[in-house]
Amino acid sequence: MDEQTARREILRAGKLMYERSYVVGSDGNVSVRLDDGRILATPTQTNKARMTEDSLALTDLEGKPLNDRRASSELAMHLLIYRERADVRSVCHAHPPHGSAFAVAGLAIDQPILSEVILTLGCVPLAAYGTPSTDELTEAMRPLVKHHNALLMANHGAVAYGADLWQAFDRLETLEHTAKIAILSRALGGARELPPDSIEKLIDVRERAGYLGESARCQACGYLQETNVVCPTGERDAAPAARASSNGKVSLTREELIELLSQAARAAR
Ligand code: 13P
Repeated sequence: MDEQTARREILRAGKLMYERSYVVGSDGNVSVRLDDGRILATPTQTNKARMTEDSLALTDLEGKPLNDRRASSELAMHLLIYRERADVRSVCHAHPPHGSAFAVAGLAIDQPILSEVILTLGCVPLAAYGTPSTDELTEAMRPLVKHHNALLMANHGAVAYGADLWQAFDRLETLEHTAKIAILSRALGGARELPPDSIEKLIDVRERAGYLGESARCQACGYLQETNVVCPTGERDAAPAARASSNGKVSLTREELIELLSQAARAAR
């Protein structure tokens, strides 16, 4: 995106974020990686509905200011995502109420309950709490960025990113919508998860269509395929620590059992 277009579109996205209550006060921040590699970011402590085009800050990928505007205090988080993901051209951070409620409750958004969400977003893990604007926050997010297109930040909010500003914004919106539906479904007696074979089919569709690559398989398996480590979300452990009792019986939660079955189905393919 060229600089002029990015300035205009960041203002539009900021206004939408505010109007949809994804942010209040001076919450949230948005950035775009321009065609020439510079970063255009929202200014710190500014209401996202009341920014002006000339209020936006320009920096390089190391965060060095390239104009006299002070960039968001969360610029380091945006830069981490750009560095980890060459495909990402825009980052949107906000405090949407339903998504943030998951983050406050210590929950990832990773229940396979909506087919379209599995297709387009995948699971949204929860990064451990880190003080905003410090290395604590970026280090908590670092292992997750490569494998997901949106993250929850414990006791803080959410961030989504994509190939352009509107993909990042749409992912933020899908995150919030999914969290809202999950909460509402609990009021109606609880969400029914899609069965493992339906999840597998959806993952096949999304990989064939190129919506999401193999590294985003956490929705089904909670596991980072190419590394041999347990998914840092901790929610859907690929190798569930089966609990052995003294009589030799092994107990698994329902989710762990589904997980094991999903793994077996994948291995058998
Ligand atoms: P900035 O105003 O510095 O961008 O911070 C807002 C925010 O949401 C911090 O998490």
